[in-house]
Amino acid sequence: MIAQSYDDIPYESNALKQTHPLHLYQLASYYGFNPTPIENARVLELGCASGGNIIPMAFHFPSTLFTGLDLSAKQIKQGNQWIYDLQLKNIALRCMSIEDFHDNEKFDYIICHGLYSWVDEPVRDKILQICHDNLSDKGVAYISYNTFPGWVIGNTLRDLILFATKDRRWLEDKINQIDSLFAIYQEGLTQTQTQTEYSWLLNEELKIVSEHSVNQLVHEHLSENHCPLYFYQFIEQAQRFHLNYIGDATFFDEGGDIAERQNNDFIQNRRFRSSLLCHAAHEKHNSTQHENIKQYYQQYLALSDNKFPIVSKKPHASLLARYQSQLQQHVTNYFHENILLTPVAQALMPFLDGQHDLPALCQIIKKLIIEGTLEIVDKNLQPISNESEIEENTIKICQETLYLLASRALLD
Ligand SMILES: C[S@@+](CC[C@H](N)C(=O)[O-])C[C@H]1O[C@@H](n2cnc3c(N)ncnc32)[C@H](O)[C@@H]1O
Repeated sequence: MIAQSYDDIPYESNALKQTHPLHLYQLASYYGFNPTPIENARVLELGCASGGNIIPMAFHFPSTLFTGLDLSAKQIKQGNQWIYDLQLKNIALRCMSIEDFHDNEKFDYIICHGLYSWVDEPVRDKILQICHDNLSDKGVAYISYNTFPGWVIGNTLRDLILFATKDRRWLEDKINQIDSLFAIYQEGLTQTQTQTEYSWLLNEELKIVSEHSVNQLVHEHLSENHCPLYFYQFIEQAQRFHLNYIGDATFFDEGGDIAERQNNDFIQNRRFRSSLLCHAAHEKHNSTQHENIKQYYQQYLALSDNKFPIVSKKPHASLLARYQSQLQQHVTNYFHENILLTPVAQALMPFLDGQHDLPALCQIIKKLIIEGTLEIVDKNLQPISNESEIEENTIKICQETLYLLASRALLD
């Protein structure tokens, strides 16, 4: 059933910066642990979908070995096509259920994002069992999950959607019904005679979910299982498998012990966590002050916000980004971030191979505009069709686009 839903509507599988082993290495080191440097590491991703997260990692770290598992044959097939086309030798994607994974291989990093709270108890236990059995002595596991109390109201809305669509047999019919359902509820909730704190909360949640893509609706609000949990409950579950909590991988980890963190979740109505675990026996050395971790985050974020980008004479983007741009509108940059391209950037990207200078790139874009494949607009958002204006604007647009790509860490 789960495999079928991901085969029918595949998950948008993208790079997730906070799961990157480089980041996990840095964080675990700051917390006083002694993780394996990424260059010699083995990495396992559970529920890797089509590999949009680990394939870019494998591309940039050829000496690191990556394995991905997913139940959905269609997604694994797509990922394997990417691996074949990019000729990557350090990654294998396997189509199988996590429950059937019984290997002895040890991994230095285990990543499990967007899965733990969407599967039933035996799979959740198996995820933790794999972390126990297959994490190397110095290994770090990353598990993300939806949390209470943030998901209390989210779950009410999910129940509402499941209830209202229960008699529709086909997924497509259920999806089509959701828009009108939202309109009815929004109207009811905003009528003054029904205004309460509850109606305000539910309406706010409705506003968030009405912005969701079909993909998100299917996998979050129409999915079979959804089991958010409190942070302290997750920690208890991990401890049953002799796994200890290190810290969280999100960029706003507030520090503190388990009780303080749980109290903060209550205060902030937190709805999501990405927690790092290690073996209970993994000895901690000198734990760094939380201030230092904050500093690391600031540096990390500043690095990916390049205010003084340099565009070389013949610009070069990674083979990975050039390949991705021919299949989709978003690509992975050098900081493992998912970057959405403008139509001009997407058209330019395949030619950023270090062989084309600005005049050559302008010629390519100009040709596409004249052919009608690409459209550029003036300051009043009117399409430009006059040839001399196209000539004049193309140089400006190409220069601006290259500058933007460099500033988003897509050029080297
Ligand atoms: C919500 S997606 C998350 C994908 C990816 N980790 C990400 O965050 O982009 C969940 C993925 O887990 C896979 N999955 C669900 N149950 C599974 C199981 N028992 N074994 C392996 N994969 C599973 C689904 O096929 C789907 O691709």
